[in-house]
Amino acid sequence: MAGPLQLTELKKGRRMLIAPSLLSADALDVGGHIERLEGEADWLHVDIMDGHFVPNLSYGPALVKALRKRWPEAFLDVHVMAEPAEDFVDMFLAAGPSLLTVHAEAAKHIHRVLQKIKDAGVLAGVSINPGTPVVMVEPVLHMADLVLVMSVNPGYGGQSFIPETLDKVRELRMRRAELGLGYLIEIDGGVNLLNAAAVCEAGCDAAVAGNAVFGQPNPAEVIRKMRASLE
Ligand code: DX5
Ligand code: ZN
Repeated sequence: MAGPLQLTELKKGRRMLIAPSLLSADALDVGGHIERLEGEADWLHVDIMDGHFVPNLSYGPALVKALRKRWPEAFLDVHVMAEPAEDFVDMFLAAGPSLLTVHAEAAKHIHRVLQKIKDAGVLAGVSINPGTPVVMVEPVLHMADLVLVMSVNPGYGGQSFIPETLDKVRELRMRRAELGLGYLIEIDGGVNLLNAAAVCEAGCDAAVAGNAVFGQPNPAEVIRKMRASLE
């Protein structure tokens, strides 16, 4: 069950966790790109796209399973952009994620989906698109281990950050304090070295960064710089 204690444990003393998105890694050498992170990544973010909920296709459970096999200790942050979410949960739970996040817009029964994830002993995340208000997830905040705020319209890496989405981060932080809950707040899309500090300041506990990290020749160095920019 989410609680302030869990929040602290997951943060590992970091101001903001950094989760490189494998979507921006070389599709022919995902493992090699993970090695090039030199252990600097807090989490590995895996984007699952169905060509229906979002206009792009990416990975299936086989990649998650392979990552788990090769890196048994890695924190696998699996972001499912697939509809209906109900149909995808079992196959990804079986693949070994640390955290499984589904979209509120993609589930008819978001409460049931989150419950199923939690029952499997996996951290449960709920995500909202830039056009979706926080009130949509209000009824399930108490059962969420993480709320993922999309700061681009999901579907592609390398898009520009939508600044208004930070208002939702602030709102989620306020609600968490008011309700005494312990979910983490993660932001996803368009995070880079220039805006990471502002994102952290708004209250994000974790930030996904795809293009900013893997688009550079030394991805580990980008993470180190990003972390330094938060101090
Ligand atoms: C977008 C994905 C993101 C994406 C982030 O649909 O959910 O995780 O990979 O990539 P950047 O950081 O390049 O915007
Ligand atoms: Zn993502």
